[in-house]
Amino acid sequence: MARILTGIQSSGSNGEVHLGNILGAIQPGIELSKKPENEAFFFIADLHSLTTVKDAEVRLSNVYAVAAAWLAFGFDTDKNTFYRQSDVPEVCELTWYLNCFTPFPMLANAHSFKDKAENLSDVNAGLFDYPVLMACDILLYDAEFVPVGKDQKQHLEMTRDMAKGFNHKYDETFVVPEPLIDERVMVVPGTDGRKMSKSYNNYINIFLPDKQLRKAVMKIETDSKGLEEPKDPDTCNVFALYSLLADESQDIEMRKKYEAGNYGYGHAKQALFELIVETYSEERKRYWELMEDKPQLDQLLKEGAAKARKVAQPVLQKVRKKLGFN
Ligand code: ADP
Ligand code: TRP
Repeated sequence: MARILTGIQSSGSNGEVHLGNILGAIQPGIELSKKPENEAFFFIADLHSLTTVKDAEVRLSNVYAVAAAWLAFGFDTDKNTFYRQSDVPEVCELTWYLNCFTPFPMLANAHSFKDKAENLSDVNAGLFDYPVLMACDILLYDAEFVPVGKDQKQHLEMTRDMAKGFNHKYDETFVVPEPLIDERVMVVPGTDGRKMSKSYNNYINIFLPDKQLRKAVMKIETDSKGLEEPKDPDTCNVFALYSLLADESQDIEMRKKYEAGNYGYGHAKQALFELIVETYSEERKRYWELMEDKPQLDQLLKEGAAKARKVAQPVLQKVRKKLGFN
């Protein structure tokens, strides 16, 4: 069994999960977790979110939204371990220990810090220390493989350095993890053609109720070609999104409609809206069932945390012993 582990951010001012997250992270993550040779530890990184989100209600509702989305897409919590980072307080203790071995310049060199370093008064110590907490998320569970986006590559290199440094001083203690970076991960475009992202406010949350979802789709930016004019599918944001969800024949048919003319962007948007609703009908239903049953979400997260702590505690105990804290 290979243990794969990854943290899922619950940041942002609203925990909405968008089509980019689904196609770029949730579905590939679930595929990976389904392979018989893998055992997945997926967690919601709510302690990390405290570096930016200070509002308790926002944090909690983000956690629920992210959890409900993963579960709605069928993440199997029996085979795998699904938990909230803050439900395993062992990670904070390990973070202190590793802090005391992490050279200041290593953290000062992290992109996550450097990007903000121009305005140091806006940087809190938690943000500076973000990579150590992330390393502890990984090392606490003896994770072997860590699927992440390219932007997290440097954090993984730091994690490996921290693990190797500690192992060198105190003999084999941590598993040195390998990053799994899929260079081919598709970039889902947003309603304005840039990468879909919460930070650009150009995203489509597929879990919205029908009316709001339709409204979000209708906001996709297009050029101003009239109804009767032929249109270029390859430069159209509506077509780009349609094409990500469509099967081959739907794709070909839509392309023909664009090129033939007498097919307006309003028609294409309506078709995209219908395709989203049809493609994700089960997941949308399940998402709302879960969001309306918080006790069930709490219960699942609680069970996940108990499983996670069983793995975390012996690792932490080993570290305590080596450092003379028994
Ligand atoms: P956002 O940019 O909306 O804040 P996050 O950075 O929280 O999204 O991304 C969470 C996960 O979703 C990451 O693994 C990221 O790779 C994936 N993801 C986010 N946006 C996209 C996108 N437009 N296309 C593909 N994958 C995406
Ligand atoms: N920093 C990661 C991100 O921004 C989230 C994360 C936190 C993570 N801890 C992790 C990812 C541990 C992988 C492993 O996406």
